[in-house]
Amino acid sequence: MEVIITSGPQEIASIGADAFCHLVDRLPGAVLGLATGSSPLTIYDEIARRCDAGEVSFAQASAFTLDEYVGLSADHPQRYRNVIAAELTDRIDIDPARVNGPDGLADDIAAACAAYEAAIAGAGGVDLQILGIGTDGHIAFNEPGSSLASRTRIKTLTAQTRADNARFFGDDPDAVPQHCLTQGLATIMSARHLLLVATGRAKSEAIHHLVEGAVSAMWPATILQHHPKVTVLVDAAAASRLALSDYYRETYRGKPAWQHI
Ligand code: GLP
Repeated sequence: MEVIITSGPQEIASIGADAFCHLVDRLPGAVLGLATGSSPLTIYDEIARRCDAGEVSFAQASAFTLDEYVGLSADHPQRYRNVIAAELTDRIDIDPARVNGPDGLADDIAAACAAYEAAIAGAGGVDLQILGIGTDGHIAFNEPGSSLASRTRIKTLTAQTRADNARFFGDDPDAVPQHCLTQGLATIMSARHLLLVATGRAKSEAIHHLVEGAVSAMWPATILQHHPKVTVLVDAAAASRLALSDYYRETYRGKPAWQHI
């Protein structure tokens, strides 16, 4: 696991956008894994800026989102399909028909989850998956207690996550759906490169467990310690509880430029 303690949002945006842009330069038909939440937003803004400036093209790429609320109407602004369109995919030249997400309105939820797994596998798997992290250590919507071997399925959101996400629903936790469909931890682990982004002191405990804690379903993100290629992109506040922060800083400073993302 590589931990990059950045100077803040600008550096996060630039390193994160580099990861996506270098990937599609090398592999124009790359499969992108996209995440909602506020953490990736500066990266999405920088990707959109570069695409607008003609520095990069996603015309041949495809994308899969991590998760979706169950039951939000097709035109609901917080439906993750609509969120990701507004935040990124409508702002770049990716073909909207190649942007996929779990179907939170499906009649047969189990079949929809199986179909989503099949679609990811059929596309050849995800090349680069961006991730945020919940204050309780969840990734996508894999809440504490999730099977470390889970695949796409329905989950019940915790009171903590509904409180955290209430800001998108008029500050009313009761307006946040109770259920979601989410890629499982094993699904996420199948992606070839994972880029996890976190900022702010509220994330410092989750980041501490992710990087330096014991692997446990109680902190679902800790499964990433078993992945061979993970980049953790944080600011100083999110890194404030890391015991080896000096070492991570020294390692990144000493890294030759050609090895950067
Ligand atoms: C939601 C999403 C996660 C995201 C998390 C953190 O629960 N399902 O994918 O990582 O929020 O969000 P934020 O980045 O806004 O803190």
